[in-house]
Amino acid sequence: METNKKSSFSGSLGFVMAAAASAVGVGNIWRFPYLAAKDGGGLFIIIYIALVFTFGFTLLVTDIAIGRRTGMGALKAFGAMHSKWNFLGKLTFLVPAIIMTYYGIIGGWITKYILVYITGQGTAAAQDGYFTGFITSKVSPIVFLLVFMAITAIIVYFGVEKGIERFSKAIMPVLLVMIIGIALFSLTLSHTDANGVTRTGMQGLAIYLIPNFEGVTFSKFISVVMDAMSQLFFSLSVAMGIMITYGSYVKKDVDLNKSITHIEFFDTLVALLAGMMIIPAVYVFSGTDGMAAGPSLMFISLPKVFGAMGSIGTVIGFVFFVMVAFAALTSCVSIMETLVANCMEMFGASRKKTSLVIAAIYIVLSVIVCMGYSVFYFELTLPNGSVGQLLDVMDYISNSFLMPVIALLTCVLIGWVVKPKWIEEEMEHGGYKFGRKQLYTVIVKYVAPVVLAVLFMQSTGILTYIEKLIG
Ligand code: PHE
Repeated sequence: METNKKSSFSGSLGFVMAAAASAVGVGNIWRFPYLAAKDGGGLFIIIYIALVFTFGFTLLVTDIAIGRRTGMGALKAFGAMHSKWNFLGKLTFLVPAIIMTYYGIIGGWITKYILVYITGQGTAAAQDGYFTGFITSKVSPIVFLLVFMAITAIIVYFGVEKGIERFSKAIMPVLLVMIIGIALFSLTLSHTDANGVTRTGMQGLAIYLIPNFEGVTFSKFISVVMDAMSQLFFSLSVAMGIMITYGSYVKKDVDLNKSITHIEFFDTLVALLAGMMIIPAVYVFSGTDGMAAGPSLMFISLPKVFGAMGSIGTVIGFVFFVMVAFAALTSCVSIMETLVANCMEMFGASRKKTSLVIAAIYIVLSVIVCMGYSVFYFELTLPNGSVGQLLDVMDYISNSFLMPVIALLTCVLIGWVVKPKWIEEEMEHGGYKFGRKQLYTVIVKYVAPVVLAVLFMQSTGILTYIEKLIG
């Protein structure tokens, strides 16, 4: 049957670019820098890098090898590995299914800011209340959401090689050039504030890179490690079936070891560059206080920074948001592709039909979530203590709750049920060398399950509860 013909990437480069394009997203550009600022700069960076090449590597290898070996999406792959583990496929499928309800909304916000800078409204965007005013308005965020979703759907509609691969290959180099450009520009900045204090980009760079051990206690250290860990999941797009889907598109003659190293490297490089671009700029114009902005960094603090740069700020702001839009778009594509691929397998339907149905469903769902800031506004305290709206609730369920559970179960399945050898065989297929084999086995069997259990208890508030009981 025509519809069952397996799609694939044209080769190793196409795969690396598409997977890196999925991995590089708002997580790298917005979340990584604010975590680094919050968690002692260089200290966070060192921990993060160490974790990427051990722990992140293990999860990435697992997902990609499962995908290529079974040739299926998550929904069917786990059942094919072990009939009793079919439930894990369903659980994994839930993650992109939930993320897709809100990722397009953030994509819409980014699209809005591109327009802000094209039309020269940068000064307005730098005012207090601009962002909140925008997201709580009734119509405008929905319009931008629809634009973003439509572009995503078109790319997925065209398929793996003609859509996703071609688009990623064109976009990723441009993104890299843009981010290097702005990062270098950031380092040249210098500003004297009203108190006569001059701060420079190079000083900001030092704050970003030099580890700050001030006030680091054991429990603070653990919380930095946990921040790095949850960042890593989100950033590498693991434990949500996306890399399983992309793995299933990789031809058997591709050396997975090399490709995976490239993906890890690319994703980490972009995160580091994003910090180098954002932290010095925020430091120069707002000092260390500005860096405590947290999640509002991208839409509230940065427009202020661009505003303070004068007329060049409009250009930089525009380039910045175009770049973020590229990053978000390719990530959103990978989420939608995972949904489409799994549903095609499930229902034996064609790509074009499935893409249209999924797009229609998610337009409705995203509009509802988007209205969580206006019509359906509420404030809910989440188990981890933060207060959120509908979007945050979705984000919490997928990232803080489901992802650690899925990663934990996947590691147990591989480490103890089907055994690491099953993955090793796939990594060594074609006579290639599985470089970090011993490391992989130890992590997947012992380290990951323990760490993931702690991460789960931390993000669900169980850990705080236990601490209270003991203390
Ligand atoms: N990995 C992407 C990032 O760093 C985010 C993402 C999440 C992509 C979920 C796909 C699915 O932002």
